[in-house]
Amino acid sequence: MRLITNTALLAVAGSALAQDFSKDGNYGAPFPNTTYPGFESNNPYAIAGSLSNQTSPPKYPSPWGEGRGDWATAYTKARAFVRQLTLEEKVNLTTGTGWELDRCVGQTGSIPRLAFRALCLQDSPVGVRDTDFNSVFPAGVNVAATWDSGAAYARGQAMGSEHKGKGVDMQLGPVAGPLGRTAAGGRNWEGFSSDPVLTGVMFAESIKGIQSAGVMTSAKHFIGYEQEHFRLVGDAANYGFDIAASNSANLDDITMHEMYLWPFADGVRAGATSVMCSYNQVNNSHACQNSYVMNYLLKGELGFQGFVVSDWLGTNSGVASVLAGLDMTMPGDSNVYDSGDSYFGANLTVAVLNGTVPAWRLDDMAIRIMAGFYFVETNVTRGPINFSSWTLDTYNYEHYYVGEGWTQVNDHVNVRSDHANLIRSIGARSTVLLKNVNNTLPLTGNEPLTAVFGNDAGPNSDGPNSCSDRGCDEGTLGMAWGSGSSNFPYLVTPDTAIQNTVLAAGGAYESSLDNNALDTMGALARRANVSIFFANSDSGEFYIEVDGNLGDRNNLTFWQGADEALAAVTGNCSNTILVVHSTGPVLLEQYASNPNITAILWAGVPGQESGNSIADVLYGRVNPGAKLPFTIGANRSDYGTDILYTPNGAVPQIDFREGVFIDYRTFDRHNETPTYEFGFGMSYTTFNYSDLRITKLNVSDYVPYSGYTSPAPTYGNFSSDPADHLFPANFTRVPDYQYPWLNTTNLTEASKDPHYAAPGSIPLNAQNGSAQPYPKAGGAPGGNPMLYDVLYRVRATITNTGPLAGEEVPQLYISRGGPYDPVRELRGFERLSIQPNGSTTFNVDVTRRDVSSWDPVAQDWYVRNTTKRVWVGSSSRRLLLEGVLP
Ligand SMILES: *[C@@H]1O[C@H](CO)[C@@H](O)[C@H](O)[C@H]1NC(C)=O
Ligand SMILES: *[C@@H]1O[C@H](CO)[C@@H](O)[C@H](O)[C@H]1NC(C)=O
Ligand SMILES: *[C@@H]1O[C@H](CO)[C@@H](O)[C@H](O)[C@H]1NC(C)=O
Ligand SMILES: *[C@@H]1O[C@H](CO)[C@@H](O)[C@H](O)[C@H]1NC(C)=O
Ligand SMILES: *[C@@H]1O[C@H](CO)[C@@H](O)[C@H](O)[C@H]1NC(C)=O
Ligand SMILES: *[C@@H]1O[C@H](CO)[C@@H](O)[C@H](O)[C@H]1NC(C)=O
Ligand SMILES: *[C@@H]1O[C@H](CO)[C@@H](O)[C@H](O)[C@H]1NC(C)=O
Ligand SMILES: *[C@@H]1O[C@H](CO)[C@@H](O)[C@H](O)[C@H]1NC(C)=O
Ligand SMILES: *[C@@H]1O[C@H](CO)[C@@H](O)[C@H](O)[C@H]1NC(C)=O
Repeated sequence: MRLITNTALLAVAGSALAQDFSKDGNYGAPFPNTTYPGFESNNPYAIAGSLSNQTSPPKYPSPWGEGRGDWATAYTKARAFVRQLTLEEKVNLTTGTGWELDRCVGQTGSIPRLAFRALCLQDSPVGVRDTDFNSVFPAGVNVAATWDSGAAYARGQAMGSEHKGKGVDMQLGPVAGPLGRTAAGGRNWEGFSSDPVLTGVMFAESIKGIQSAGVMTSAKHFIGYEQEHFRLVGDAANYGFDIAASNSANLDDITMHEMYLWPFADGVRAGATSVMCSYNQVNNSHACQNSYVMNYLLKGELGFQGFVVSDWLGTNSGVASVLAGLDMTMPGDSNVYDSGDSYFGANLTVAVLNGTVPAWRLDDMAIRIMAGFYFVETNVTRGPINFSSWTLDTYNYEHYYVGEGWTQVNDHVNVRSDHANLIRSIGARSTVLLKNVNNTLPLTGNEPLTAVFGNDAGPNSDGPNSCSDRGCDEGTLGMAWGSGSSNFPYLVTPDTAIQNTVLAAGGAYESSLDNNALDTMGALARRANVSIFFANSDSGEFYIEVDGNLGDRNNLTFWQGADEALAAVTGNCSNTILVVHSTGPVLLEQYASNPNITAILWAGVPGQESGNSIADVLYGRVNPGAKLPFTIGANRSDYGTDILYTPNGAVPQIDFREGVFIDYRTFDRHNETPTYEFGFGMSYTTFNYSDLRITKLNVSDYVPYSGYTSPAPTYGNFSSDPADHLFPANFTRVPDYQYPWLNTTNLTEASKDPHYAAPGSIPLNAQNGSAQPYPKAGGAPGGNPMLYDVLYRVRATITNTGPLAGEEVPQLYISRGGPYDPVRELRGFERLSIQPNGSTTFNVDVTRRDVSSWDPVAQDWYVRNTTKRVWVGSSSRRLLLEGVLP
């Protein structure tokens, strides 16, 4: 979502799309015989299912929640609650009141009659956004780099508790979309890794952690949201791009299942209470009104029991979206902030009264929302929302945009607790050691003169929060930009933290933080015993432009003039350490081979304790154990995928022609040597791998799920007389606010909906509430439970052969053996702590899903009859042990 000023209004999306029911089409083009000339991969499936203008098939009705899996108790409570509600009260749960009209970035209506206050939805994935006295946590990409599921859980729990302390009901995160199809993707840092398995584990643990604090999550963005450019008509227009609709991610069914949907299956299985649909289209139907992705994949196949919320202004229709599976619209307004009208609100009340939206569907929306609420919170009487997203002033307007309700809006509650320790620790434990010639690191602190260089080592001279939503690259990169940001309580710079260490050890310290001062830098480097150079590469969300970068990065090289400055240092100092802060891969080939660069560290986007975290690693207080969550290629073109920077049509078409071959899967396929491969990272100690053991477990054969749902239930009655749904007499309205009531008893007049949906235009079965068959691959949250049966247990012995205690992340890779499968794919990992001369067992359970392939014809998973090789290694290329699954 975005934060814009009131003047920067968005254009209305093409109105023809407003009733754009998902269309018939060739989604997933199953196993064509033809290959396509000019396609460099020999995987015909991907190309056949990733054509421009291909469409997404209709899938109706929208599955109703049944309280499956561990949702039974939450559903019992939700049913008891929703049974009591009136039509308007149900509608209130589904509709945001409007942008900047209440305190949270998204706020639903309330149910005053039952003392149920509005649900407060708040960014971001790194901490509570738009407030004060909160923490800023390391970004998702750093969490992935720890390869430590416990760190993901602990960070989630800490972030959740901070949201809870502010009165937030739902944290808008974590992120598994973008997955990282393109290295330059602007919001990749908010997510975890370009590998779906690593992302899936971190996503699931983050969800469990946040929700353990009594806060709902919004697992986002669903799905195919892999670039910032052309995600919305309105914000593209702000840069002069004239497009008719959001870009379309065109992908085949195998790629969808084996890559992009995979982490969402983990998130749903972990109990994600809501999923946020994304701005983009998927196969030319908007994600927030695409019945294939919401009804069929998410609520059907993945058995999702929570609710779908739109990304902010991601809703493009009322009836069409609701029938396709959207449960809540945010921030409530239609395609323009503060438009005063909504696709939901009164329109939804009318749509139920005129019979277009069946009563069971509205009941299902309300049930899903309340079940999500009860899944993590037990008591409808919660603490107050004690902050305002729109001002840090103590007193201001409750309804900020319209200037009504002057009151105390900020209590300035300090929710930081002792989270700084966790943040510092994750910052250090996510720092990847890429190069370390002759044990340059760790430093001792006794070097006579330590010199630190680069804009990225110092502060933003205007303060760490001076750029709105961190929309600039000044000083060190502790956080990237966009709605995935939050305000720093402080930002410890590398300059400060390294100086503290050096002074404590009695050394001399100087820093030179202006990358334009090349001569000064060269002169200092010549005198230094060790030079530490900090360089960065930033990115963010499309609504802010930084140095010509519209969210997505224009290049994979350094910002702030760091290359020239670094050359001035390396030309004068043969002991230069390079530290990289970046949102994703930066090309390092020339620095990897530069003899004067004796060590390289990737420190990602580490949050408020940035300097302390890097100093802990540089001086050996923390022995690095992190691994790259993406590939650092030698050339940008080696990735084989890129951002579409210029529209290729009125509706930009982004064809995922590479299929599953992103990041290391493409490097392996084409035998390209990266500078540093996926999963690589060194330690100050050394490890030996031995004794691979593979055990086959006795598990029964896979059985496709079968059976039928119950018919759609309804809860409570409502009067069909429009006169019973008018605004209450003497009700004082907040201007521009979205209400569930009608202005007039004439339904057409009350809705003012120009997109009259004639009864015949409703997709077949969309209003059908009769029992429906379960999908074969479905049946429970996360999909068919048999997919998670453990088929094999793989073990290996990891020994610390060096002088220091350290942490190692052994990785299990599998080849599924099919002609179009990746050479190998990550399927398990564990971060182990091992004492010198000590040994530990690496233990991975290989599930049925891990060795399965998606069959787009059968619409189910199957295990192909091929030899399946396994490797255990310290990276995707350092494959130290090898075996075959029996
Ligand atoms: C390929 O085409 C042949 C002949 O039309 C057909 O028999 C076969 O089933 C097709 N194979 C696949 C995988 O669709
Ligand atoms: C996609 O549709 C647009 C608009 O109708 C058309 O201009 C374009 O040629 C089509 N592209 C392909 C590959 O069919
Ligand atoms: C809907 O929510 C609004 C805003 O919180 C509130 O003023 C109104 O009373 C609610 N309507 C109903 C029917 O509860
Ligand atoms: C209902 O939705 C339409 C757009 O489809 C919009 O033009 C109209 O103003 C909405 N009505 C209300 C009451 O918000
Ligand atoms: C029912 O109301 C909805 C929402 O205003 C509108 O889109 C739809 O066209 C109406 N349908 C009929 C048959 O009146
Ligand atoms: C719900 O919360 C309110 C206010 O904190 C408290 O008075 C009440 O006892 C709680 N009810 C339950 C069932 O926990
Ligand atoms: C590393 O140390 C060894 C032994 O002292 C020395 O021969 C070698 O030149 C050193 N390598 C570099 C790159 O400094
Ligand atoms: C890469 O982009 C950054 C940020 O816009 C810019 O500072 C830098 O000069 C660019 N690098 C090259 C080689 O163009
Ligand atoms: C490495 O540093 C030394 C100074 O210590 C300098 O003379 C030499 O030119 C540098 N080499 C490179 C490749 O920059």
